[in-house]
Amino acid sequence: MSQDNFIPTTKSIVDIYAETKIPTQIKRYRELLQKFKSIYGFEAEFIARSPGRVNIIGEHIDYAGFPVLPMAVDRDCLIAVATTSLDSKVRVANVNPKFPTGEFTFIDRDRIVDIDDTIHEWTNYFRAGYKGMLESLKLEKPAGMFCLMDGSVPSGAGMSSSSAFVCTSSIATMVANKKNLSKNDIVQIAIASERYVGTNGGGMDQTASVMSHADAATFIEFHPKFHTTPIHFPKTIPAISFVVANTMVTADKVVSAPVCYNLRVVETRVAALLLAKELNLLEEKPQTLKEVMDLYFTTNEEPSHTSVTERWINRLTKMLELVDQLIVRREGYTLSEMAKAVGLSENELHARFMSKYPIRTDIFHIYTRAVHVYSEALRVVKFRDVCESNQGTIEDSQHVLNQLGELMNESQTSCRDYYHCSCKELDELTLICRKAGAFGSRLTGAGWGGCTVSMVPEDQEHNFIETVKNEYFRPKFPDFTEEQLNDVIFSSRPSSGAFIYKKYSAVNPFGG
Ligand code: GLA
Repeated sequence: MSQDNFIPTTKSIVDIYAETKIPTQIKRYRELLQKFKSIYGFEAEFIARSPGRVNIIGEHIDYAGFPVLPMAVDRDCLIAVATTSLDSKVRVANVNPKFPTGEFTFIDRDRIVDIDDTIHEWTNYFRAGYKGMLESLKLEKPAGMFCLMDGSVPSGAGMSSSSAFVCTSSIATMVANKKNLSKNDIVQIAIASERYVGTNGGGMDQTASVMSHADAATFIEFHPKFHTTPIHFPKTIPAISFVVANTMVTADKVVSAPVCYNLRVVETRVAALLLAKELNLLEEKPQTLKEVMDLYFTTNEEPSHTSVTERWINRLTKMLELVDQLIVRREGYTLSEMAKAVGLSENELHARFMSKYPIRTDIFHIYTRAVHVYSEALRVVKFRDVCESNQGTIEDSQHVLNQLGELMNESQTSCRDYYHCSCKELDELTLICRKAGAFGSRLTGAGWGGCTVSMVPEDQEHNFIETVKNEYFRPKFPDFTEEQLNDVIFSSRPSSGAFIYKKYSAVNPFGG
């Protein structure tokens, strides 16, 4: 395996962040290490780091098996760690005094650590990554750990602070126990680990956090094979800039899971089952809408294609037609109607889809969810195609910017009208962003609050941010300081993925 398959270790944070961010990051790392020493009385041995992400396009389709296109951001989770062989205890502190220090003990190889996901506790995320990593390492006596965490990804904002935390704690646990797993393994561990904390997530966030490269978004494929491809944005004139703006509506994915996130996962799974039944594909047991599509085209003829993109477009367009024909109840299904439609009893349906992650609803919106998933997958494919077809000299930047922006806007409309994962503030903010000059603006992440991402011409970025501050933030939050405002709306470049920072010299801990 090449070096690129493992989390890079560096002694200089210059390798991790863009040049403009280095001074603030030096200060942050220095403060973290000093605080570590003042809490524990000795120095940290290393810092594990994994970033948050902004999803550019492809919302709520990773768990349906379709590719998505996020990029890592420079807001991240750091965990400074020292180890001991004297015990297998884990102490977890946070630089933010809001989060009380926690401590837990490794129980044994089969139980590792208890996580009570009904109690919403910040160290649960640490425990989840720790447990997942140790389950995979199968150690008899793991190292004791002293940890101090510093997170700069806003939480509940749809920028994946929880996955950044879980990935970082998995990596910290791996390094503390002197192991070196591949990035691929770490991603799979972090995806499974996060399910210990109550959401049935798809895998986009952990992949973006661990695998991303600076300067590129990451096209992530989940099925039939997990695969990532860096995608560079077109070099338009003016250049493309992405601005993230936080509605300030906190969307806690875990707390709202039974009526929002986990419910959507179930609705897409039942949609897959219903389509499979109607298309006589039940024997192959497809689980996701992507699997249904692939199976359908193993036996049904397709036009001869000239490119992979064309095949995707033809297939997804056909699936949208089939959804229209075969999912008849536009207004949704009750549990009993759904059971009848898929040919199972209500109990069977419940046991298969709703027992592990409980959900609460009277109506399951199967049709609108399926339309969103297939049409969003189509937009991702088109977005990638526009990026890849415009890597050389660009004749007409305006046209390229319009095409990409339009796809982002259509994604927002679909999230609002078909997936029902937007909210009043997200709708308002995306509208303000478009009026302020964004080519495209949409919610990013799970939705129901959190952040928007807008594609803005770089030469207009400053004016854009000022206008949005005046139109959305200043009227709603008149007491915000300039610093607070800069924390809720900021531009974001694609950033590097996970890193391990090891200080080799106590005299100059920042490399060089
Ligand atoms: C959350 C999940 C992801 C993905 C997004 C929605 O961030 O963790 O797996 O499903 O929501 O696109």
